[in-house]
Amino acid sequence: MTPQQFNQQQLLAMLAWQVAMGADEAVLDTPADEPAGSSPADVISGARPQAKTATTMADGLPATASDHPPSQKTLDHLTSLADLAAALEQLEACPLKHTASAMCFADGNAGARLMIIGEVPGRDEDRLGVPFVGAAGQFLDRMMASIGLDRSGVYLTNFLPWRPPGNRTPTAEETDMLLPFLFRHVQLANPELVLVLGGAPAKVILNKGDNILKLRGRWHDIDYGDGIMRPTMASLHPSYLTRSPAQKRLAFDDWLGLYRRLATPAPTTLA
Ligand code: URA
Repeated sequence: MTPQQFNQQQLLAMLAWQVAMGADEAVLDTPADEPAGSSPADVISGARPQAKTATTMADGLPATASDHPPSQKTLDHLTSLADLAAALEQLEACPLKHTASAMCFADGNAGARLMIIGEVPGRDEDRLGVPFVGAAGQFLDRMMASIGLDRSGVYLTNFLPWRPPGNRTPTAEETDMLLPFLFRHVQLANPELVLVLGGAPAKVILNKGDNILKLRGRWHDIDYGDGIMRPTMASLHPSYLTRSPAQKRLAFDDWLGLYRRLATPAPTTLA
């Protein structure tokens, strides 16, 4: 159906439905197809709506960090990724360390041009101590493959290295304690580009309170605490995409942007 086939009252009802669902901005230039049952037209015509998607850890985290970039001074003595991992292993003050089965520090190639930061380890990651090995990771592998990448060409970590018990939302204290470690992690890995997956890490790393649907797909120059501006893009988390397949199209646009950026050689400095 096209908009011309609806009367004004129906169009207003569709708009009201979108506002009620939280839409406050058009994020595509052209209308995208919706899955059956989820569009305003389906609601008006009485088609069965889809189940509401599950919430993510984004719901409970502070939208922006009060101290951005977080103070790194106390971590300056950690001069290698091995030092950083060892310091995290000894971080007795963090409650998450005591309830998780294993720490998920990183996977992939620490020298890669691209660093990917996910949310928190899931059940499989917690068991195996490796980021993105479960269903979300398998989907991430497929997204990477769509632009010719695999784990040998990226460096993967998570916003938090331990799974919160029962997958609860991490507290602000836990996030504040671990954020300097994440920023030091980026400094030490020193990637050319950073991709952040999911609303919770995107809000904190980009230091913006906007919804992920607004934040995604644009490059932001982020200072991870060493004065170097690293181009950073947020995109949709693979778990979210498996629950909301209609959004895969947006994610694909982001990955194409990433592909183009990777295809552009890094600027060389003049001697
Ligand atoms: N989701 C994430 O964000 N990271 C993982 O490691 C697994 C699932």
